[in-house]
Amino acid sequence: MSAFLERIDMSALLDDVERVRRIDRDGMCAILAKFPEHCETAINLAKDLQIPQRVRISNSRVLRYGVPKQIVIAGMGGSAIGGNLLKDWLRASLLIPVEVCRGYTLPAYVDEETLVFATSYSGNTEETLSCLLEAVERQCMVIGISSNGVLQEFSEKLGLPLVAIPGGYPPRSAVPYIFFSLVAALDALGILPSMGGEIEEALAVLKEVREEITPERPLSDNLAKKIAIGLQGIIPLISGFGFYGSVARRMKTQFNENSKTPTTIELFPELRHNTVVGWARQRNLTKKFGVVLIRDKGEPPEIRKMIEVTKERIFNDGAAAVVEIWSRGRGKLARMLSTLYVGDFASVYLGILYGVNPTPTESIDELKKHLITVDIEGTLRRKLARLLED
Ligand code: PA5
Repeated sequence: MSAFLERIDMSALLDDVERVRRIDRDGMCAILAKFPEHCETAINLAKDLQIPQRVRISNSRVLRYGVPKQIVIAGMGGSAIGGNLLKDWLRASLLIPVEVCRGYTLPAYVDEETLVFATSYSGNTEETLSCLLEAVERQCMVIGISSNGVLQEFSEKLGLPLVAIPGGYPPRSAVPYIFFSLVAALDALGILPSMGGEIEEALAVLKEVREEITPERPLSDNLAKKIAIGLQGIIPLISGFGFYGSVARRMKTQFNENSKTPTTIELFPELRHNTVVGWARQRNLTKKFGVVLIRDKGEPPEIRKMIEVTKERIFNDGAAAVVEIWSRGRGKLARMLSTLYVGDFASVYLGILYGVNPTPTESIDELKKHLITVDIEGTLRRKLARLLED
């Protein structure tokens, strides 16, 4: 079949809701269609979070909760991205530094005045469990966020505050639960800046955007489907500026996991200091990329100019495709989540165009099995027993 006919056929595929459903066997589209409601449920669920004044772990170890000096969110993959979204959302209003920690160890500055979130959807991610243990050892204000596993078991055993989120989803679909649990915890500690109705606006905008991107909406009028069509056969390169860094990161991971495609990120303004040089020649290489630009009507003039000039002079000619996602809404949260939502659906549609079921992530599970070199759970259990006796 010619490339042209193939494209026509692919367009028809995305508008054939039944065929889409057959490929999307585990129902990622249905989960995504509930994204706004998951945000609402998450907000209600996390409202009940009680933060104790102190948690006694043993005679020599007591965690004291109050206003923290800094916040560290420990997690990996789909369980960590909520931390980046929080950090970007509150960057201009929260005076307490926030760091997302993806790894086995906490930064040296983490002490008893640090609030540490241990976030793991499965509750069994070894990097996160290792940070949890360190946080307890250093007597931090520890809060767990999980649907299951060792994290939940340990938190309950130790009496740590825990947001128990609903299970049964792929971890990356739990972003609304993890993000709003973080927000609720800051609120419960009295350190959430007043964001002037941003959450309510974001929910309304998400519902509006949903109408425009679900499978029932035809390609001719569906930005997420158009993006997927444009990115077929090439490597998505996600680009954004400032507080869209976390959204770009989310999109990258969603294209990886839902579409099963390599994907990369390049952010403004950093990209003009190096990436552009890599794009100056080698058309045979740059033509392998499809650039996704996250745009915002409120782009600062210097950023707007930079994006426009880079698009015209570098990407339009160098890339195989350039697509733009313009944010919606007034508040930062609506603008972030509206672009994230389009990216989520686009990644699922691209997976469907590739004929893959978007939900399973066998490579992650497979690698996790091969990487079990140390018995982290056993080690943690032994260390925990020692902590309780101290
Ligand atoms: O999206 C995924 O499935 C992964 O990125 C997981 O989130 C990651 O492996 C960590 O697992 P968990 O979220 O259960 O802590």
